[in-house]
Formats: sequence, C-alpha cells, structure tokens
Amino acid sequence: MTHKPRILTGDTPTGQLHLGHWVGSLENRVALQDRYDCYFLIANMHAFTTRADRPDEIRRSTLEIVKDWLACGIDPERSTFVLQTEIPAIAELTWFLAMLLPFNRVMRNPTLKTELEDKGLGDNYSFGFPMYTVGQCADILIFRPELVPVGEDQLAHIEPCREVARRFNQLYCGVDPHTEDAEYPARGGLFPIPEGKVGRVARLIGTDGKLKMSKSLNNAIFLTDELKQIKKKLGGLYTGRVAMDEPGDIHNSLFQYVRAFIRDEARVAELEKKYAAGDNIGDGHIKAEVAEHIDALLAPMRERRAALAGEAGDAKVLEILREHTRKANAAAEDTLYRAKQAMKLDFGPRELVFR
Ligand code: TRP
Repeated sequence: MTHKPRILTGDTPTGQLHLGHWVGSLENRVALQDRYDCYFLIANMHAFTTRADRPDEIRRSTLEIVKDWLACGIDPERSTFVLQTEIPAIAELTWFLAMLLPFNRVMRNPTLKTELEDKGLGDNYSFGFPMYTVGQCADILIFRPELVPVGEDQLAHIEPCREVARRFNQLYCGVDPHTEDAEYPARGGLFPIPEGKVGRVARLIGTDGKLKMSKSLNNAIFLTDELKQIKKKLGGLYTGRVAMDEPGDIHNSLFQYVRAFIRDEARVAELEKKYAAGDNIGDGHIKAEVAEHIDALLAPMRERRAALAGEAGDAKVLEILREHTRKANAAAEDTLYRAKQAMKLDFGPRELVFR
C-alpha cells in the first residue's frame, strides 16, 4: 500500500497533444510523479459525447494519447493509467453525484457554455453532453485525490466537483457544513475536497500570435513536430514589429514563447533588455533561438514516441492499459463500496474481474 497523496487528472482523446498541453499540465504531471500516487485518465467515454458516430477515430486517439503521455515521460511503473470506459464505478458514481447537483448548476458551467458555442452545438446536443461535467466529478472523486493538475479551462469543472464532494460528505458522512475544506477527511468525510493546480503557463498563445494554442485552430506546435516544422510555425508568428532597431514589446506573443521555453533566466533577461531597447536584435533571430530550445525539449519525446510506432507500439499500449485497468478498478471499487456504505446501499461486497 502506498500512502502518498493522490493526483487524478486526464485528457479527452481528441488528437495529438501540443506545447500548450505541455506547459499547462503535462509538465506538472511528469514532475509530480514521485511525490504523488498519480492516476491519469483517458476520457474515452467523454469522447463519445460529441463523436458518438466515430468509434474508430476514438479508439485510435485513445492509443495515441497514451503514446504521447509515455513520450512525455509519464512512467507506467510509477503512475496508473485509467481507461474511463473500463472503470464501471465511475459511471455508477456519476449517477449518484448527478442527484446532488442542481440541473441549473450544471448548465451554468462556463466551460460547458464555451464548448457549446465553439462547437456550434446550439440546441442540438445530446443529453450526454452536459452530463460529462457530472461524469468528470466522478472521474476525480472515485480516486479521492487531493490534487488535480489541469489546464486553466478545466478549473470550471473542478469547482462543481468540490461542491459535490462537500455535499456528499455532509449528507452521507455526517460532516458539519461549517467544516474547513482541508478538514473533511479528518471529520469522517469520504472525499477530500480536491484542489485544481494550473501549470507554469496557464494559457499558451498559438503560433497565430492571437488565440490560445489549439489543434482545431491550426496554431499548434505538436509534441511530435521536428525542428523544421517548429521553425516554420514560429516563423509565421506575428509580433507587429517592423525593424530590429525599433524598440520591441516584451509582452508580445514572441516573448511569451521566450519566457515559456528558454529556461535560462539570465538569457531571458538579456533578450528582454535588448529587445526593449531595439538593440539590433531581430525577431527572426529570437525565433530561431526559441525553436532550438523547443526542439531540445521535444527531441527525447520524439525518440520515445518513435519507439512506440506502429502495431508493435499499439500492442505495447494495450498491454499497459490492461494491466493498469486492474489496478485502477481496485482503487475505484474500493471508493464506490465506501460510498455505497455511506448511502446505506451496502448490500454486500462485490468483485469485478477484468480479463
Ligand atoms: N475534460 C477534460 C479535457 O477535456 C478531460 C477530463 C475528463 C478530466 N475527466 C477529467 C480532466 C478529470 C481532469 C480530471 O481535457
């Protein structure tokens, strides 16, 4: 048994991961693996909320996201991968939590609203689409984590999760509603009130220099990109600066990259000083320097990913997922049984066999 505090976080398998994911969340996950007992969830059930007609694509993205994680340095010996569709306790807990969240509260979630707009769903979304936000509370709580490292956009999902955890603890575990968040477990609550943790760069700007980096906006540098592609994409980054002897704005899009990817404070300070003074330093030069740093970050990732290419790589990923599903189910079943006991639904323990 491990007594490290737990982490749960995850991604919906939508396609390739990019630098925005890295600085927003992945980097944190890799760094926290030693200090925490980490669970990383592949939200393949959630993928069906908008792509129920594309099961092949979802299966492919599921394998690809695990490859990206492994390439990033998530270590399957230390961390546990959670394949959402094979953890039935998540779906069961979702039902119970749905009873503790007012319908209007679910629909008021700003991230949900933005998605409805961005995806142009209007009134034409499935019942399951808003339901995913309740499911996300269950994804988290079933592992009873203390910390949820996520990108900024996901914080709006952590809040209802904290609300529902408090409510469950109060209703079914007899915890006093005036209890401080950190005290819930000590007062007999089943669920710790989890905290969201946003990465070093909350919102990385895309290579269009305008919007948040995102695959669908076509402004992303992928973790699989080679130096040539990185250079080309950064080359197109618009800064608005005309000449190299013109004072530059060190808060422009390019300098967001400088600070995010040149991890040498003295060099960053020097570049900022020269740029602000218009001291003969061109955007092209800085872009090339940033590209080298990004390339150095991605090179070992590309290498690890290449080792997982093709069918042999798929087989390896499936093997890891099968093994981890057993471990994840053991933890999830344990929480669900405790939750059922608290809810007077303890009609007997059960055993789940995953072959
Ligand atoms: N909604 C998250 C995303 O799209 C994925 C996700 C599902 C998640 N369940 C989670 C993230 C639980 C953190 C915790 O990226």
